[in-house]
Amino acid sequence: MFNVSRLWHVLLVVSLLVNIFLGSPAQKNLSLLADGNVLLLTAHPDDECMFFAPTVLALSEALHPPPTVYSLCLSVGNADGLGDVRRRELEGSLDVLGIGEGRRWVVDKPELQDNFTAEWDPHVISDVLRSYVLEHHITTILTFDHHGISSHPNHISLPKGASHLINSLRSAPGKPQPRLFTLVTVPLRAKYVGLLSPLLSKASIFLSQVLRVADVPQSKAVVVSDWKGYVRAHRAMRQHSSQLVWFRWLYVLWSRYMWVNEWVELVPPDQTQSAG
Ligand SMILES: *[C@@H]1O[C@H](CO)[C@@H](O)[C@H](O)[C@H]1NC(C)=O
Ligand SMILES: *[C@@H]1O[C@H](CO)[C@@H](O)[C@H](O)[C@H]1NC(C)=O
Repeated sequence: MFNVSRLWHVLLVVSLLVNIFLGSPAQKNLSLLADGNVLLLTAHPDDECMFFAPTVLALSEALHPPPTVYSLCLSVGNADGLGDVRRRELEGSLDVLGIGEGRRWVVDKPELQDNFTAEWDPHVISDVLRSYVLEHHITTILTFDHHGISSHPNHISLPKGASHLINSLRSAPGKPQPRLFTLVTVPLRAKYVGLLSPLLSKASIFLSQVLRVADVPQSKAVVVSDWKGYVRAHRAMRQHSSQLVWFRWLYVLWSRYMWVNEWVELVPPDQTQSAG
């Protein structure tokens, strides 16, 4: 009898072996994300390693010269009263990911608190973001998409806030407008295929090069970590010891975002023109 569960195990083992022994990082259009000074915009300490690690590592390692990468986290993650601990854990994680002091900031404002039911006001986000973007000549903003990967309303607020800023810079002549790229939320069934995902993504990059067919619809840039990248993302994750309850261990084992990031550009509609 054909045994689906056995086939699944065989696939996992093969994928693991291929990733360990043959795996190398892969990218498509990575330079698209790396034009100038790059700002990673996150909502909570641990977003940077749970979701964005493949990109952060690829930006610093795959490009010569690498772009300057900054990190701005809009809350200390105080939902359980652990804000001070989590702020320090974030520093440890960013050390592992190579975003050093002077290039990373955490905001702790009453309007932007870690809250699983609250959307953050895009005007507040835009105001906070503006000073960092202008002061550090940010040309590219990387953040969540409108599904926020886990549907967390704080995540979902970020592309709205960044779009708001870009629109307001558009109507201020002489101010540069950064480009905005958002991390593609994949359907749930694709999210937890863990070790298979680098294999599948590399295959699709390869196929799209060979056959010139699009893989993920409208995906603009794809980054796939190798085994070393995964180990480093895992080490960054372990800096967040206050967060490492059992289900997060499962997450880091199985999540696609520990291996693969896909990006699309978000071009905010021009509100100044559509307003009339
Ligand atoms: C990104 O890659 C796709 C195909 O993989 C290509 O069609 C597109 O032109 C690339 N974009 C840039 C800006 O290189
Ligand atoms: C979270 O936000 C909701 C409103 O969406 C509010 O009622 C609640 O008090 C907030 N929780 C905390 C801990 O601030």
